[in-house]
Amino acid sequence: LGTRKVTGYLLFSLTTAVIGSLQFGFNTGVINAPEQKLRAFFNDTWMERYGEPIDAGVCTIVWSVTVAIFSMGGMAGSFSVGVMADRFGRWAPSKRSMFLVNILAVIGGLLMGFSTLCSSYEMVIAGRLVIGLFCGLFTGLTPMYVGEVSPTPLRGAFGTLHQLGVVVGILIAQILGLERLLGSSRLWPLLLALTVAPAVLQCVLLPFCPESPRFLLINLKQEEEARKALVRLRGSEDVGGDLQEMKEESNKMALEKKVTILELLRCPSYRQPLLIAVILQLSQQLSGINAVFYYSTGIFSSAGVSQPIYATIGAGIVNTVFTVVSLFLVEKAGRRTLHLLGLGGMALAALLMTVSLLQKDMAGMSYVAILSVMVFVAMFELGPGPIPWFIVAELFSQGPRPAAMAVAGCCNWTSNFLVGISFPKLEEWCGPWVFLIFMTFLVIFFIFTFLKVPETKGKTFEEISRSFTGGGAASSPVEARPHRPEGGNGTAKEEKRDE
Ligand code: GLC
Repeated sequence: LGTRKVTGYLLFSLTTAVIGSLQFGFNTGVINAPEQKLRAFFNDTWMERYGEPIDAGVCTIVWSVTVAIFSMGGMAGSFSVGVMADRFGRWAPSKRSMFLVNILAVIGGLLMGFSTLCSSYEMVIAGRLVIGLFCGLFTGLTPMYVGEVSPTPLRGAFGTLHQLGVVVGILIAQILGLERLLGSSRLWPLLLALTVAPAVLQCVLLPFCPESPRFLLINLKQEEEARKALVRLRGSEDVGGDLQEMKEESNKMALEKKVTILELLRCPSYRQPLLIAVILQLSQQLSGINAVFYYSTGIFSSAGVSQPIYATIGAGIVNTVFTVVSLFLVEKAGRRTLHLLGLGGMALAALLMTVSLLQKDMAGMSYVAILSVMVFVAMFELGPGPIPWFIVAELFSQGPRPAAMAVAGCCNWTSNFLVGISFPKLEEWCGPWVFLIFMTFLVIFFIFTFLKVPETKGKTFEEISRSFTGGGAASSPVEARPHRPEGGNGTAKEEKRDE
């Protein structure tokens, strides 16, 4: 199963990769605090152009577009991971793609940063779109790269690093967004443009990272290069086990080279893992987590909390702490257990939150509201936060992985968009009952996970994909695609017979 040894070089490579996750978190959280400053800027620009103040309704539309276009960019970006894989095949999971994608962060950051100088709110909107595209690409690329360079026994713990990057990014954005830091009317463009800095940093560090050994061996067939990368990552010459495992996967894959998104959707043998991947993404977003992260300040004020912004930062801190807890638990307790625990705990917290909103006039209820939000967030980070992001890379072998990441990522971003755009309306309609909607979803996803999701802890990618064959639910991907013998060397066929 490979070594549990963690080398400095492995940590360096992982840290460099999760700068992408940090960017996703930062840009998710950054727009929250300076809302009023941005609205004032829209108004000033309008005055300058048309000599009259902006209509309140129009201003809200411009604001919602500014917020939501980020997730639309994200949908397109996450889907492009698959298109890139379809088009360039071997490109998608490589570190070179990460390097190139950073150009988008620079463009987006500069557009937003110079928007006030150019008196153009369109530049903020365009910048948010480009940044969304950038983040969407990284929500596919980072978990894939991390999964591929990590040793099997630690793949879950390191998989959680993507989410850790996200939550730290959110927290940094929440703190820097405080009025007395960068959230002021003068400095907010700098706050939004700050995303350029990690992009440049990652571009400087990436050349020192190894290419994914799995990518070198399986996609490029460069065994010697793959071995060298492994030796550096594992800090030992003894990488035979890892290489052997990759070769087995490579042999199995010899008949299923490129898997396009269309093929992934059509092929019956991928149906089961794809369903699991998609439902897990939905369980992450329809849990209602971003109702909290986008609107917590409003939720806290309606529960009677006097300093809502600090409660929001408190939620960001709990969020970070529990992601670290999950990082240590995930290889012990396993993905399935933690995901179940998280969904169940969130459902109970949603119930508690409903009670606290219903009884808000009772003494001390605002504390119950804060407590229930904290428990909600903590339970999210135990499982539903980190696990869906990396389990997709585990459920699929090298061939269909980029396409699967694309489909899963796109479902994630779409449901993220839907929750973000509809929560204010839902809240208006349902009042204090609104979290019961999420509770219902959470119960449904709990049942699904209990019945359908396999444990992937400690298994090789190959063993996982075989587990879908064993259950009789689907035939093996190799069997399913015998018509594409590109580069097949016979071994796969022999293995298939052996099975
Ligand atoms: C996950 C979600 C993201 C959410 C974050 C909160 O990464 O994908 O939408 O904002 O967790 O920690």
